[in-house]
Amino acid sequence: MSDIRFRCKRSTDPVEIAADVLVIPVFEGEQQAPAMRRLDRAFGRTLLAHARDLGFRGQEGKGLMHRAASGARVKAVYLAGLGKRADLTLERWRKTAAAAAGAARGEGARRMALFFSQAKAAEVSAAAEAIALSAYRFDRYRKPPKERPSQLTEVTLAGPGLETAEITRGLGRLEPIVRAVFDARDLVNEPPSVMTASALARRAVEMCRGTAVRVEVMGPGKIRALRLNGLLAVNRGSVEEPRFIRMRYRPRGRPKLKVALVGKGITFDSGGLSLKPPGSMETMKQDMAGAAAVCAAMSVIGRLKPRVEVSGYVSSTDNLPSGSAQKPGDVIRYRNGKTVEVLNTDAEGRLILADALALASEERHDIIIDLATLTGACRIALGTQVAGIMGNAKELVDRLVEHGREAGEMLWPLPLVKEYRDDLKSSVADLKNVGGGFAGAITAGLFLQEFVDGAAWAHLDIAGPAFAEKDSPYCPKGGTGFGVRTLVRYLMSL
Ligand code: BES
Ligand code: MN
Ligand code: ZN
Repeated sequence: MSDIRFRCKRSTDPVEIAADVLVIPVFEGEQQAPAMRRLDRAFGRTLLAHARDLGFRGQEGKGLMHRAASGARVKAVYLAGLGKRADLTLERWRKTAAAAAGAARGEGARRMALFFSQAKAAEVSAAAEAIALSAYRFDRYRKPPKERPSQLTEVTLAGPGLETAEITRGLGRLEPIVRAVFDARDLVNEPPSVMTASALARRAVEMCRGTAVRVEVMGPGKIRALRLNGLLAVNRGSVEEPRFIRMRYRPRGRPKLKVALVGKGITFDSGGLSLKPPGSMETMKQDMAGAAAVCAAMSVIGRLKPRVEVSGYVSSTDNLPSGSAQKPGDVIRYRNGKTVEVLNTDAEGRLILADALALASEERHDIIIDLATLTGACRIALGTQVAGIMGNAKELVDRLVEHGREAGEMLWPLPLVKEYRDDLKSSVADLKNVGGGFAGAITAGLFLQEFVDGAAWAHLDIAGPAFAEKDSPYCPKGGTGFGVRTLVRYLMSL
């Protein structure tokens, strides 16, 4: 799937580069840079004239394809607008590079080159990452198009400062990361009757095969023995068996830190007896996106082998109504002793995460990070581009926000307002599973906090960005794989 071969080439002159399409990133107002002038001369002074005619000045998101006469070393040059130099971010590099790759594919290119006149290592890696990610398609369930769009097979990263150890290292990490993001997208995009809890567990095993991660898959018996009663309660409405997946990576030697990743794996959320309206169910196969991100991140960790110990915990079932389904008013008793009155069976994510958070706490982790498509409220508050982040340790939250920013995955802190804890008071149990109607993302976070003990904890509510409603430069509509790149960056930084 990620079949693009990347290579680095030290070069001071874009004119000497051979490829089908040569991409030249251009800062706004800097289209007269020396490299551009040399290219313009090589093209018989047609390139800058073409740019002038079409009003291209390097504006963000703008591009210009300039076809060469036959016999040239390239079939076309693509000028890719980066916008103003002062506003440059890694994400800008990603979007620009991915858009250029799209334009190159449109030209039927197989070999693309990207010329960096002075880019930093992080920028080169970001551009390469986005080009690789932009190749993703999910077309297992449709007949192949008559005219196949061309596939890039080789991308040359060229420039005077290329071939450094740092860039080579960045490119080495690219392959496992891109593969994992594609896996996570696949898991979400598969139809919900295919991607059941047992199928998800099988995929987790496959994804971690040949890596340093050990995967343990637990069925109903083991889940009962472990008293994962939230998972059992949600699963009661289903004809599918639940699965609890525990993945473990242990570094050589004594780890400085033990980190747990926890993922919500609701393979389809109908709401249960508190049934959702049809429109809200259409994309509810996405409700295992947190689990997908955790499994995918674990597969990368097993390949890149950081110095910290990392465990992944995934609770998985679908959430369906039936004669045996849990009912509003039912009470769940958790393994940490707490009881929860279920007043809304559609607030099921927190019920299954509670088991996993309690278990991860007992198994003594320094840091616990959970990812869940938890609340529509978070999606309403922050939209589809930004995940909410909450936690009990500001330092952890800040670092995740920072790594998210660098990865191009936006996270925004929401406060765990203590006063709202009262909204979770039940008249029959220790807690109820819904808040008071306001601040739904926060009351969900406060609920989860009740099951965390003795660890620095962060909760990512990815209900917005887990699933894209429309295509973007490096991700088509559907599952996005959100979280994988942030988690990997963070874990590799420890
Ligand atoms: N899986 C949903 C949240 C969701 C909504 C994810 C939209 C992605 C897109 C979750 O299980 C849910 O149904 N939450 C309820 C909670 C409520 C009943 C307290 C919600 O947000 O309405
Ligand atoms: Mn729900
Ligand atoms: Zn849900």
